[in-house]
Amino acid sequence: MRTVHRVAELRSAIDDIGAVVLVPTMGNLHAGHLALVRQAQSLGLPVAVSIFVNPLQFSPGDDFDAYPRTLAADCGLLAAAGCDLVFAPAVTDIYPTAQRYAVVPDPTLADILEGESRPGFFTGVCTVVLKLLNLVRPRAAVFGKKDYQQWRVIEQMVTQLGLPVEIIAGETVRDADGLAMSSRNGFLTASERSTAPQLYAELTALANAVRAGNRDYAALCEAAAQSLTTYGWTPDYIEVRTRRALAEPSAGEPLVVVAAARLGITRLIDNLEI
Ligand code: PAF
Repeated sequence: MRTVHRVAELRSAIDDIGAVVLVPTMGNLHAGHLALVRQAQSLGLPVAVSIFVNPLQFSPGDDFDAYPRTLAADCGLLAAAGCDLVFAPAVTDIYPTAQRYAVVPDPTLADILEGESRPGFFTGVCTVVLKLLNLVRPRAAVFGKKDYQQWRVIEQMVTQLGLPVEIIAGETVRDADGLAMSSRNGFLTASERSTAPQLYAELTALANAVRAGNRDYAALCEAAAQSLTTYGWTPDYIEVRTRRALAEPSAGEPLVVVAAARLGITRLIDNLEI
């Protein structure tokens, strides 16, 4: 496995290796990321993983400084997983000068849900993902469905800008108790960790109620939010939406339930396709 930090080193590594599949990450890798790497490997091309904590997608007061940076451990996991290339740039490699150009995604998709709670978040995500795609020029890139809205925004960006890359979605990997794997789970205290699976339990109950024919989405979401509150969560949103546009449900459209909630200082997101 080659590990490179500078853009010039990346270019020369890509020249040597040829077309790759990219798995963009912010590091602090867990089994969910490794599943994305395996999915990338199944496409039969060398796999590159980028590790970059992107300041553009953090607002002031967000956890940018606290975000766990574990490059040596990450590289160990990726080498053991058979990854071919790691691109781990510094902020100054990706943004050598203040970034004045940005990708502003479609507000109907990007200013709702996560985008409403975190203004500018998807502009930061799209800008860095476009930059990574331009630098690595992968044949395909794999994104986890755990960040459902992020996957949909990136998919739409790639389509609308005609980028020559296939976007592939990886299923969410969960701990045995249902908690979706996330780098932010490491911020949970022991007692919060034991409460955390409740988020997935609420999503499962809500999805089952819809599958059983209940169409009162507002009441179901309100009940789920109430239940989370009694377990000590501060729900941000719980919504039933259409899978692609994340719009209000409409007849015949496949649905997803998406949620974000805070437990102590940790904000967790999860979703479940219905
Ligand atoms: O999902 C993430 O880890 C990040 O948002 C991404 C896609 C690597 C962009 O910084």
